[in-house]
Amino acid sequence: MITGIIACNPQNERIVRVSSPNGKIEVTFDNSDSKLIYSVSFMGKEVISKSGMGFEFNTQAPLGDAIQLADYSTSSYDQTWEQPWGEERIIRENYNELFIDLTEQKGEERKLQIVFRVFNDGIGFRYIFPQQESLTNFEITNEKTEFNFPSENKAWWIKAYQESRYEYLYQLSAIGDIDSINGAHTPLTIETTDNLFLSIHEADLTDYASMCLNPTGKKGLICALTPWSDGVKVKTEVPHQTPWRTIQIAEKPGDLITSNLILNLNPPNKLGDVSWLKPMKYVGIWWGMHIGNWTFGQGDKHGATTERAKKYIDFAAAHGFDEVLVEGWNLGWKTGPGWHLDDGRDISFIESTPDYDLIEVQNYARSKGITLQMYNETMANTKNYFSQIDTAYKLYESLEIRSNKIGQVGSKLDKKEWHYGQYGVNYYREALKKAAEYKIAVNFHEPIKATGERRTYPNMFSREGARGMEYNAWSADGGNPPSHTCILPFTRMLGGPMDYTPGIFDITIPGRENNQVNTTLAKQLALYVVIYSPIQMAADLIENYEGHPAFQFIKDVPVDWETTKVIDAKIGEFVTIARKDKYSEDWYLGAITNENSRVFDINLDFLESDKIYTAQIYKDAENADYKTNPTAYMIEEKKVKKGEEFNIKLANGGGMAVRFNSID
Ligand code: NOJ
Ligand code: CA
Repeated sequence: MITGIIACNPQNERIVRVSSPNGKIEVTFDNSDSKLIYSVSFMGKEVISKSGMGFEFNTQAPLGDAIQLADYSTSSYDQTWEQPWGEERIIRENYNELFIDLTEQKGEERKLQIVFRVFNDGIGFRYIFPQQESLTNFEITNEKTEFNFPSENKAWWIKAYQESRYEYLYQLSAIGDIDSINGAHTPLTIETTDNLFLSIHEADLTDYASMCLNPTGKKGLICALTPWSDGVKVKTEVPHQTPWRTIQIAEKPGDLITSNLILNLNPPNKLGDVSWLKPMKYVGIWWGMHIGNWTFGQGDKHGATTERAKKYIDFAAAHGFDEVLVEGWNLGWKTGPGWHLDDGRDISFIESTPDYDLIEVQNYARSKGITLQMYNETMANTKNYFSQIDTAYKLYESLEIRSNKIGQVGSKLDKKEWHYGQYGVNYYREALKKAAEYKIAVNFHEPIKATGERRTYPNMFSREGARGMEYNAWSADGGNPPSHTCILPFTRMLGGPMDYTPGIFDITIPGRENNQVNTTLAKQLALYVVIYSPIQMAADLIENYEGHPAFQFIKDVPVDWETTKVIDAKIGEFVTIARKDKYSEDWYLGAITNENSRVFDINLDFLESDKIYTAQIYKDAENADYKTNPTAYMIEEKKVKKGEEFNIKLANGGGMAVRFNSID
């Protein structure tokens, strides 16, 4: 008998159970009425009450209402694997599995399989349509997976099917008050009435439509797959498997952040030796476009000029950055308001504008030991992009370019399909695999949501997929409120790294009357630790960093970590995270708060014993406040060691960033 698995029932073999390795989580699969029903408990208390499963098809009878358990097997897995880069170098993958075979007894006798994997930090399950005669090509019109709760829980969520994809502020509401017409995207994070924290998402989203969630009354959610433009959800053939439907279960919000459930439910690295992938820091010709100083397209104020790019390269090389991003370098951008509505048919991924010389600029960068980060803005025109992609990538490869920021500005791909439907899922995967062929890492903006595919394709470095820094520059609502970055780590970030682009020092954005960055300067620094990405931008204009003492933290902070600890957190209110550098004995700490100031002590028990550290502390000044005095900060140094109390004081909308520099 495998520890933690009870898979039997004396009266009725059609109820089977599987529990987590530590025995705290238990999944029950109940087929006693020839239906597909699952439920989940944590420490003996229900967290998911009886919830249905099944499918509807375009030309076939529904599947799941009259299907019987034919066989099942259980197994256990306990191994560790090493991430090439990430928040945690070594990851333990430890689960108990229940594999169920089902067959219809009547009619077409179709077969379906369901696999449950139960980890200590949550569960995943997926459906498999095996090879069979009565089901060959098929079109799914509805997946009926339910997530029912025993009580009226509350959730953090963003609305699906909106013009700006995932770029919305999270709402906190009762589950029953989630938008019932559009539903919500995942990760959708829940605080239960029993003070547990759950997050529903998916893992290994491959050749399938994204799962959105619609409310069903006050206590339940149901999967709502993203449709193609013709209304069908998934077009496929057997054998085929769905993504994993995932439920993270945590007693503390911070445990959602350190959970590796989503990664563990993705297949291992398919790229082989990935020593060519280098996590990195970059600056770029970027913020100037967003604050209205320059334009993406050609004209008097064109941002991407050879001369300016060289200045950015000089700065990057002088301060130890690895890459320089130059947006709008290529032919085909429209200039002026409404540029973002263009269909992108004229965009070239190969030819530079007359005032910019890609080859000259990249050669200059290489002569200084750095490189350009490529920028491909597709304007969501996938056809135009793919028609040039091989020629373009051959050029980038010959120039020794190592990473590519790929934008998909537009409400629909090709003005037709949702970014997160099956068409989009396959488009992003193809683009990622194409980049891997040329040993190029990807930074998707306007992406498909992350579902842990960086494990399989480690060139999947980072992506946007939430309201990033740019909203502070131009959003009519005044930008991201201070709580936004206190919600992201428990929602969007559970899928994977985000290119949030922190580091704006000129917080009030002179020239933009109605916009400012809604944080203190110290919080900008703390975001480098809190919002994980293997690539981090110092997003401000370079002149705002020249001679600025706080810039030292951005230069020092690593982008690749040995381990991560969430010291304390409350969703939407504050987050304190400590991470250990992968390549030194140093630890870094980031603490951020919402609009409320707070003072608290933490214990430095994460540090190594027998070591002394110089804590280099970047903190809000006494009178700092994100609205009235955002740039008031102080740098302090003191010697600290493991086990000591450490005081953290955060201003309204403030933060603290600390480097614990090991000195012996
Ligand atoms: C949106 C991206 O998020 C941003 O970083 C980029 O500058 C613009 N699109 C232009 O492509
Ligand atoms: Ca964007």
